[in-house]
Amino acid sequence: MALVSPTPPAITAVHLRRRRRLSGEKFRRPPYASGEPLRALTRLGPLFWPWEKVKVGPHYVSPMGFGTWAWGNKLLWGYQEGMDGVLQETFNLALRNGINLFDTADSYGTGRLNGQSEKLLGKFIREYRGPNKTRENVVIATKFAAYPWRLTPGQFVRACKSSLDRMQLDQIGIGQLHWSTANYAPLQEKALWDGLVAMYEKGLVQAVGVSNYGPKQLAKIYDYLKSRGVPLCSAQVQFSLLSMGADQMELKSVCDSLGIRLIAYSPLGLGMLTGKYSVSNLPRGPRALLFRQILPGLDPLLNTLQDIAQRRGKTMSQIAINWCICKGAIPIPGVKTVEQAEENLGALGWRLSSDEILVLESVAKASPTKMIQNIFQTS
Ligand SMILES: NC(=O)c1ccc[n+]([C@@H]2O[C@H](COP(=O)([O-])OP(=O)(O)OC[C@H]3O[C@@H](n4cnc5c(N)ncnc54)[C@H](OP(=O)(O)O)[C@@H]3O)[C@@H](O)[C@H]2O)c1
Repeated sequence: MALVSPTPPAITAVHLRRRRRLSGEKFRRPPYASGEPLRALTRLGPLFWPWEKVKVGPHYVSPMGFGTWAWGNKLLWGYQEGMDGVLQETFNLALRNGINLFDTADSYGTGRLNGQSEKLLGKFIREYRGPNKTRENVVIATKFAAYPWRLTPGQFVRACKSSLDRMQLDQIGIGQLHWSTANYAPLQEKALWDGLVAMYEKGLVQAVGVSNYGPKQLAKIYDYLKSRGVPLCSAQVQFSLLSMGADQMELKSVCDSLGIRLIAYSPLGLGMLTGKYSVSNLPRGPRALLFRQILPGLDPLLNTLQDIAQRRGKTMSQIAINWCICKGAIPIPGVKTVEQAEENLGALGWRLSSDEILVLESVAKASPTKMIQNIFQTS
C-alpha cells in the first residue's frame, strides 16, 4: 500500500513567487486575480509520474485529491455564487496538473444551496476544455448522509440517483457512507450497509467507501460487504498533524491489513496548519470559535512546520499535506481559490525525510491542544 519512490522537486508557481520575493522583484498578481483567463500558470507539472498514482478499488488516482466542502457552504466557508468562476478555474488547474480525485457529499451546500458542491463538480467536468481522457479519468467520491429518514436500502439508492442527477453523470467513482449511525441508531446501520450493496449491484457506483468509521466498525462493515460480494475500497477520516491519535493510527493499520485506502480529510486542520491564522487573526464564522480554543497551544507545532518549510523552500501547507502522503494516506485538502490549489499542488513530487516526520510527530504529540474529532466518528 506504500506510495512509490520520491521524484525530484517540481518547480511550482509558489517557488517562482518565493524566488521573486528573495530577489526583491515585485510580485505581480497573477492574471486570474483580475478576472482574466489563466494563461502561463495553468501547467505546473509534472508533479508526479503515472506510476505514482494510487490504486483505490478499480481506480488509479493522484496521490492527493481536492475537497469541495466549501463549494456551496455559506455558513462555515463563506461561499458566494460569485466565486463559481474562480472555483471552475481551480478545478481546471487541478485537472491540468494531474489531480483526478474530488471529494464531495450530497449534504454539501447550505440551505437552498444544498447539493451545490455536486452540481458545480458536474458542471466543471462537462465544461472542461482539455483532453477527453483527462475528463473521463476524473474520480468523484461523493458521500451519502445517514439522515434519520433514510431507513431503507431503497432510500440510499434514491439518494445516489439524486447525486447522479445533480452531477449529470451515469456512474459515481466512489460512493461513500458519510457516517455510521452505530453510536446513536444502531438499527439504521444495516440499511446503510445494504444501501451501499444495492448501489453497487445496480452499477450506480463503481466502488464503495466509508467515512468517519473507526477501526472496529470498519472491520465489521468490511466483513459484511465481503459476504455480499462488495469490496470496500476506502475509509475517509480526519487525519492530519492535528489529528493523529491512537484511533487514527489503528484505523490506518486496519486499512493496510484489509487493502482499504485511507483518505485524509481536513489535512490542513481546517486551515490552522497553513500558518495564516492566529488568535489575533481568526477566520470569519464558526471556525473562529474552534480556532480560539486550539491555536493558543499550537505554537511549537506551527514553528516546527515553519522551520522545516523554510529549510526546504516549501510552505507550511505543503509540509502538512506531504506528511499525510508520507503516512500512506491520500490527503484531500479543501481548496477555494486558484492560489490555494496551486500552493497545495506543491505538496507533490517530493517527500519529507524520516527525521523530519519524527520531529513533526513528536511536537504534534506534545501539543497541549488537539483537534476536536467528528461527533459521528465510531470506535
Ligand atoms: N467525511 C467527512 O466527514 C469530512 C469532514 C470534513 C471534510 N471532509 C472533506 O475533506 C476536505 C478537506 O477538509 P476541510 O476542507 O475540512 O479542511 P482542510 O483541508 O484542512 O482546510 C481547507 C481550508 O484551508 C484553507 N486553505 C486550503 N489551502 C490553503 C493554502 N494553500 N493556503 C492557505 N489556506 C488554505 C481554505 O480555507 P480558508 O481560505 O477559508 O482558510 C480551505 O477551505 C473537505 O473539503 C471535504 O471534501 C470530509
